[in-house]
Amino acid sequence: MPCTRTGIPHCSIPAGDGTVSDQGQLIMNPQVRKSYESDKQAISDVAIAAFGQGQGPEIADLIADLLKDPSALPLLSLVATVDEYVVGHILFTSAKIEHSQRMVSSAILAPLSVRPEYQGQGIGGQLIEEGLKQLKAAGVELVFVLGHPDYYPRHGFSPAGIKGFDAPYTILPEHSDAWMVQDLSPGIIGHVRGQVICADALNDPKHWQE
Ligand SMILES: CC(C)(COP(=O)(O)OP(=O)(O)OC[C@H]1O[C@@H](n2cnc3c(N)ncnc32)[C@H](O)[C@@H]1OP(=O)(O)O)[C@@H](O)C(=O)NCCC(=O)NCCS
Repeated sequence: MPCTRTGIPHCSIPAGDGTVSDQGQLIMNPQVRKSYESDKQAISDVAIAAFGQGQGPEIADLIADLLKDPSALPLLSLVATVDEYVVGHILFTSAKIEHSQRMVSSAILAPLSVRPEYQGQGIGGQLIEEGLKQLKAAGVELVFVLGHPDYYPRHGFSPAGIKGFDAPYTILPEHSDAWMVQDLSPGIIGHVRGQVICADALNDPKHWQE
């Protein structure tokens, strides 16, 4: 849904992160930054808004649990803001590859949320791309995601199972394309394979149903 000047309170002032085009439309310029401790409630609100009242509270709890889970470290938690209002969030947590031939620095992308009224404007993509950039700079070599197989390939992901990476829990064959990977260190895929081990808070079969 386009963000109109009248429809969304936090989008109403074309200042700071928003400008008005010659046609009078509000053009948003979301900012992406690392999340602060003080963003916790806003991140929870974004997850519930994005995933809905059914699944949202469970996702919000998962994020809160991951943010304090030592086995999730190092993690990367980014928020997208418009005029300092948190409209999106992405979390990457540490992963390990069991029985791999060599140590590989890996992360899992989960979850990603954008407030419904801000969706379809590139914010999800901006969070993914900034996250991947920061992970690469930090030396992370592989990033996994269980998600929409029509969405994540836009940002470099492709099916992981056929490349030899097993998800923490079995993914049904009809959803195998939803388990994806991308290498931030070209050439690593094909040389490494194995079972992916996620952070403890994510290590529950209910988080691995697609
Ligand atoms: C998925 C989500 C994060 C995308 O955020 P966004 O800011 O709208 O993403 P972008 O603007 O970068 O990309 C929008 C595009 O992705 C597409 N898209 C969004 N959700 C999709 C899905 N589930 N499957 C396939 N494509 C999807 C949109 O149709 C749009 O396509 P277009 O560019 O051709 O119009 C957001 O829709 C969301 O929070 N959804 C609810 C929670 C969720 O499903 N999170 C992901 C869990 S894997």
